[in-house]
Amino acid sequence: MATTPDASNGGFDRREFLRLAAGGAAAAGMMALPRSLLADPPTRPSLLPTVEIDMPMRVASIPYNAGDPTTVWRFEPTLLKGPAGSVTNLPNNYLGPIIRVKQGQRVRINVRNELPEESVVHWHGLDVPEAMDGHPRDAFLPGQSYLYEFEVQNRAGTYWFHPHPDMRTGFQVMKGLTGMFIVEDCIEDALDLPRGSYDKPLIIQDRTFNAANQFAYTPMTNSGFLGNTIFVNGQPNAAWSVANCVYRFRVLNGCNARTCKLAFSDGTPMTAIAVDGGLLPAPVTKPYIMLSPGERVDLWVDLRGKSVGSQLKLQSLAWTPGGPAGSSIYPHGAAFDVLTLNVAHAFDYPITLPTTLAPFTPYNLADAVNPTAPRVIAINFAMGMFMMNNRMFEMENVATDEIFRLGDLYLLEFTNFTGNPQMPHPMHLHGPQFQIISRSVNAAGLNNYNTVRDGLIDGGWKDTFLLMPGETVRVLVKRDKHPGLFVYHCHILEHEDMAMMRNFRVDP
Ligand code: C2O
Ligand code: CU
Ligand code: CU
Repeated sequence: MATTPDASNGGFDRREFLRLAAGGAAAAGMMALPRSLLADPPTRPSLLPTVEIDMPMRVASIPYNAGDPTTVWRFEPTLLKGPAGSVTNLPNNYLGPIIRVKQGQRVRINVRNELPEESVVHWHGLDVPEAMDGHPRDAFLPGQSYLYEFEVQNRAGTYWFHPHPDMRTGFQVMKGLTGMFIVEDCIEDALDLPRGSYDKPLIIQDRTFNAANQFAYTPMTNSGFLGNTIFVNGQPNAAWSVANCVYRFRVLNGCNARTCKLAFSDGTPMTAIAVDGGLLPAPVTKPYIMLSPGERVDLWVDLRGKSVGSQLKLQSLAWTPGGPAGSSIYPHGAAFDVLTLNVAHAFDYPITLPTTLAPFTPYNLADAVNPTAPRVIAINFAMGMFMMNNRMFEMENVATDEIFRLGDLYLLEFTNFTGNPQMPHPMHLHGPQFQIISRSVNAAGLNNYNTVRDGLIDGGWKDTFLLMPGETVRVLVKRDKHPGLFVYHCHILEHEDMAMMRNFRVDP
């Protein structure tokens, strides 16, 4: 196993021992079965240099606003080995680094927990072995380290990472712990896309400063944490100076609970070239784009028609999420500004939006093991909590319908018919990217749905999607690389922390 906890810092604990033992047993079991051919490929030497990063999680302070510095928790990376561009830090920030690697590259990221509580890191959207995925049971204590080591097998795209401890994910992400993980591959390299400083991360989050200039964590019952200040790349009320040329904005919704309805202030349609799992087969143009917590969209932003001195805003338009809309305890769905773009200089660089981007093979429903009997994941609400199929998170348990066979294609059906209030939920599966094959909405949900429907991008590979009240979404998923125990959950982090998370198990 690639699991190598750093024994020099806190050493083995009982949980560590059990986890390693279980991993070993699973590996041994795989040997006996022909399906093991589908399991973790044997590690072969990669031609690419391994990227090695030391990345403690630390308490730090950032001078935001006038007054006292803001105490944050963040990833503080040092690149030990690998190409210089593998790690970029955003200046004056609670955010962690932008990690940039190539498909096929091995990464070794040593994370030492220097926080006052346990934590664990999840690589959102990356298809990695069980022990590397940041399951809450792998949380490690202050003073301990965890060595994340895996080969990056995902397609070129915009992925990210954040903590994932049971019941504390929302708090830890709000304190600052988030970073972006960009993967490049040769298919993308062959395309003429904006690069270098024209290829920009755009991480949207919301925070609330209290009177002492600190981040206040004030989640509300049901709706989760909705901050009153919008941050982009760790800066409140952000404004960028840009040139009048073409940019690629890698937009990540890193909010705990807030969904965005992204649009430009001048009404220019939005052109997406990639979603969660990387490049789309072809660009998609929408009047606006819905982006719920955890989702990513890469935009082709063509500013060539803008004169120097002009201004454009990226905004979130009003929409109705369902629930007690308009009530002051549920200020979700109101319009706000995300980012101001000040066109500050001219730059003439000829580039054309490619008509095709990356190959994409749709799954066939007929190839699923259950084409007419979907495994249903029904959102419900009981004991004051959102749950799935009336179940709460349990650290180790899986139900029979949460067990999958490695290599088989499954039809899953998510439904959102109940709740008090009914709310949109961004649903996320760990493991490989999946495909959305259909959406439908009932009569009760239709009015809300009509405020978002033109902004949903269901093509390409997805790991997180918006499930509106009254909606049924069907997806096809195949786990063909890594056996083991992984989680799926609502990406409203306060829902996840409460109970809206479950395990699934992939058996060889
Ligand atoms: Cu980004 Cu399990 O989550
Ligand atoms: Cu994830
Ligand atoms: Cu939820």
